[in-house]
Amino acid sequence: MRRALKILGFTVGSIVLLLGLVLAYFSIKGIPSFEVNMTPETANLKVPRDSASVARGAKIASLLCGECHRDAEGNMTGKIMSEVPKPFGVIASRNITQHPEIGIGRWTDGELYYFLRTGIRQDGSWAPPFMPKLSRMADTDVYAIIAWLRSDDPRLAPNTREYPPNKYNLLSTVLANTLFSPPAFPDQPLVIPDSSNQVALGQYIANDMLECFACHSGDMMKVDSDNPAKSFGYYGGGIEMQNHEGEIVRSANITMDKQTGIGNWTEQQFVEAVKYGKNPRGGALQYPMSPHTALSDAEVRAIFAFLKTVPVQQHAVERYQPKITSR
Ligand code: HEC
Ligand code: HEC
Repeated sequence: MRRALKILGFTVGSIVLLLGLVLAYFSIKGIPSFEVNMTPETANLKVPRDSASVARGAKIASLLCGECHRDAEGNMTGKIMSEVPKPFGVIASRNITQHPEIGIGRWTDGELYYFLRTGIRQDGSWAPPFMPKLSRMADTDVYAIIAWLRSDDPRLAPNTREYPPNKYNLLSTVLANTLFSPPAFPDQPLVIPDSSNQVALGQYIANDMLECFACHSGDMMKVDSDNPAKSFGYYGGGIEMQNHEGEIVRSANITMDKQTGIGNWTEQQFVEAVKYGKNPRGGALQYPMSPHTALSDAEVRAIFAFLKTVPVQQHAVERYQPKITSR
């Protein structure tokens, strides 16, 4: 018995020691770097900069980039991301104005394209999960974002606001070395589905362009970015997030289950919820569910048509309860 205990103690001790060594290794190693593997075609990329492309890019950026990179004045100088929980570190989205040193004024179209797809910069450094990777977005939509980044939009004019280097804590470092890795660079052209195919268009907007599934799945650690439909609890919701006040808000079940999802919603209720954040039960939907005013009604209706094809999940998600404040 005593011998068995000794062996057990020794084993536990070794595991703890090993774990400590592994953690120490990751904290010294930091966020991993990756080889830059740009094809000549990407390296020499020049995106079309016509006004339609710039307008399309501005629209996508207003839906996808502004939230993190917009400062209080509305310029794209970035900010400290208050919604990143402390154990992950102190993270600033960066200045993406056209300033040559502090912003991205010196990046080529190809460098931007490669980074937006993979999160890998030219020096091999990698932007871990907080910066989304546009790995499934159509080529022309990523080009459009770059056309907009290059445009004369005053919010992108060179600006000197600067943040200290990002500090990723052990938790981020371990995750970036284990669970997370850069998505593969697409090996074939990605195109926007024809607008006559409503379900395909809705699927493109929800899954590939705006990644609604990434918030509306069941577990942040089990989101499958390569194959959205394989994400755990796909569109069944329940991921815990924080609003601006630091309170817990869980993503909603937006499958068509009649009791626990949105199976009883009308198309119009869905349009008003997604475009304007209107909660059909009254009041407004909580951050981080943001109004998507830049989407057209037809685009939101396409998302609704697509969600009707998603397998129904019976999953009751505890809703955010506003604190009753007495004055
Ligand atoms: C959820 C927050 C978030 C969103 C949304 C977001 N970013 Fe970022 N972005 C970040 C963070 C955080 C970093 C810094 C990562 C790092 O340095 O490790 C970053 C870095 C970048 C960089 C690299 C800047 C540099 O100097 O290294 C570019 C370029 C960029 N983002 C562009 C975009 C564009 C374009 C969009 C919209 C398609 C976008 N980002 C959406 C958080 C975000
Ligand atoms: C950043 C995470 C995030 C993203 C991205 C996101 N949502 Fe949400 N969504 C939430 C959260 C959190 C709630 C719950 C809000 C609440 O309880 O008030 C929610 C609520 C909703 C609701 C209301 C459901 C109900 O029962 O009240 C709908 C509809 C919805 N989202 C649709 C979408 C669609 C469509 C997209 C993509 C265009 C999307 N969401 C993208 C986080 C997100």
